[in-house]
Parts: sequence; C-alpha cells; structure tokens
Amino acid sequence: MKIVVTGGLGFIGSHTVVELQNEGFEVVIIDNLSNSSREVLEGIEAITSIVPIFEEMDLRDKQSVQQFFKKHSDVSAVIHFAASKAVGESVEDPLLYYENNINTLVYVLQELQKKPASQFIFSSSCTVYGQAEKMPITENASIQIAMSPYGNTKQIGEEIITDVVRVSNINAILLRYFNPIGAHPTAHIGELPIGVPQNLVPFITQTGIGMRQELAVYGDDYPTSDGTCVRDYIHVVDLAKAHVAAMKRLLQNKNKEKVETFNVGTGTGSTVLEVINTFEKVSGKKLPYKIVGRREGDITSAYANTDKANEELGWKALSTLEDGLASAWKWEQKIRS
Ligand code: WQD
Repeated sequence: MKIVVTGGLGFIGSHTVVELQNEGFEVVIIDNLSNSSREVLEGIEAITSIVPIFEEMDLRDKQSVQQFFKKHSDVSAVIHFAASKAVGESVEDPLLYYENNINTLVYVLQELQKKPASQFIFSSSCTVYGQAEKMPITENASIQIAMSPYGNTKQIGEEIITDVVRVSNINAILLRYFNPIGAHPTAHIGELPIGVPQNLVPFITQTGIGMRQELAVYGDDYPTSDGTCVRDYIHVVDLAKAHVAAMKRLLQNKNKEKVETFNVGTGTGSTVLEVINTFEKVSGKKLPYKIVGRREGDITSAYANTDKANEELGWKALSTLEDGLASAWKWEQKIRS
C-alpha cells in the first residue's frame, strides 16, 4: 500500500514516514526542502533500512501536482503535512501562508477528487480552539476567530476538506495537534528549526547546549499554578503513530463519518516552569532563564481531552514530558557534536 506524505522530510512528517514504514507501508515523500533537507532521508533509512521514494516538488505549482498524481496513479492515500507553520511569520507575510497552506491543499484535493476512493489525513492544530473555555479541550469545543493567518489557514483547511468530502469519494481525518516536542529515540531524525527557534523546547535545548544565552519566559502573571502558560507537550513519535492509526482507520473503512476530527495530545498540561524544571532534571543542566513580558497572541492554557482518539483510533500517547525532553536533548547534542 503506497502512501504519499507531503512535507515528509519535515519534523512531524519524517517521524510519520518512519512509523508508516514500520507498519509495512510503502511511502512516497513530496517535499520542496524549504524547511528540511535531503539528509533527513538518510536519517529515515538509518532507522528503518528502507529508503522512501522522494520527489522534490513544490505543491504551489499546480502542473507539478497534476503530473505527480498521473505518474503515481496507483496512489489514493495522502497524509498532508506540507505547510508553513511559524505563527509570527504568518502575521508578517499572510499571503505567503494563504498561498502555501491553502493553494497546495486545493491542488492535492483536486487530484484525489478524480479517484474512485481516496483517504486524506490533514495536519491541523489545537490553535483552532484559541483560548478554549473548558479544559481539557474536546473536539466539539467552539472554534475561535484565528489569532494569526497561520491559525486561520488551519481553520480554512478544515472547512475546505469538510466541503469537498461531501461531494467526492474522499474520506478524511483532521488531526488537531497540541504541542509536538522531542525526536526519534535513535537521534537519527529530529527537529531542525531554522534560525532562532520560536517554540519553547528547541529554544530550551539550544540554551542548554550553549547556543543561546538564556531563555526568555514570556510572562508569569497568567492565572495558572505558577503564573506561566500551560500546554500539552506530546512526543513527536506518539504524534506520528496517531497518523498511522488514522490512516489504517480510513483504509479499513472504519471511519463513522466522511470527515472526522481528533485531538492529538497527552491529555496532561504542563507550565513553562515545569518544562524548564523537567529539562534540568533530564539534562543535569541548570537552564538560565529570565521572566519577561507576555508574548502577543499567547493563550493561557491548552491541553487535550483525548478520549475520542483513545476510543476511536485505539491510540494513546505513551511517552511522558520527561521522555520528550530527554529525546530533544539527545538530538540537540547529536546535531551540535
Ligand atoms: C509554548 C509556551 C510560550 C518560547 C505554537 C503554535 C502551534 C504549534 C506549536 C505549529 C508558550 C512559551 C515559548 C520561548 C516561552 N505550531 N515560550 N519562551 O505557542 O503553544 O504553539 O507552536 O503547528 O500551532 O501556535 O508553542 O512552543 O511557541 O510556546 O516562554 O522562547 O512556551 O509563551 O506559553 P505554542 P510555543
């Protein structure tokens, strides 16, 4: 069974390719290398001894997308990661995000719509909930007005897919990720943030390794246990396995609706200071940090109710925050050695 993984050389994409190969799927990666590199292919092979088919391609080029699906006419299953994902950048350059995150989705769906049956997994985000009223967050929590063009592209993407499955033979699953962290335990693949990391964990590991002076903690005056924000940090390997479970559900026709939504998190919230303390414990390093003002657009708290994914997908996150941080630290040491 051939599965196309767009953005398959990226952080979550590459970990999902490994888990798909572990389950015996043949994988075809599409990536334009805008936020990844060919070395990731070697990392995947080092883990599974299987080299995935790789087609360097930009999904913004409609002709290329059409040619690809003509060449791989036997493909009907797609996991779609390819998208830009930096919240701050999306505010600076909205059209880059609307073109890269929406046009590409439309072109892929146009090809799948031509097929007698197809399966589509969409990389969505808990960001669609904004600051949810109730914790833990369930899939029927209301969708808030997006705080950024990035978040808006995830909401629009979900709406496009919902409209399209209604008039086509596409069956889809929307996976709303919470906060992906960590790296494969072998340290052959992991996160490769370009420039100054926006996200907490890569900034922590780069501070731990001495690349950054100190971590700025964006506010400690939130209504939480220690004043810092709460998030649901999920190990990227657990997140990858959720994609395999979702794809199997569609391939085995076990889905109950043509489009289904699942929160993918651990179900546990951790504050920024708890993450720092846990990092210090797993690394044995004292992490230099200072409390600064709040970051524009940050919400106080978000962690998942994962009952639906546990029951329907038969999937549950197995790794702890400690596992995630330990793997992130091992990866940071490896790539800086
Ligand atoms: C986590 C917490 C910060 C950096 C975003 C996107 C989400 C997904 C994950 C793509 C917050 C604090 C952070 C720092 C800090 N991205 N922090 N100092 O904002 O929850 O989610 O990334 O899919 O869609 O919205 O993640 O890691 O940026 O921040 O204090 O240097 O860490 O304030 O409370 P976030 P994050």
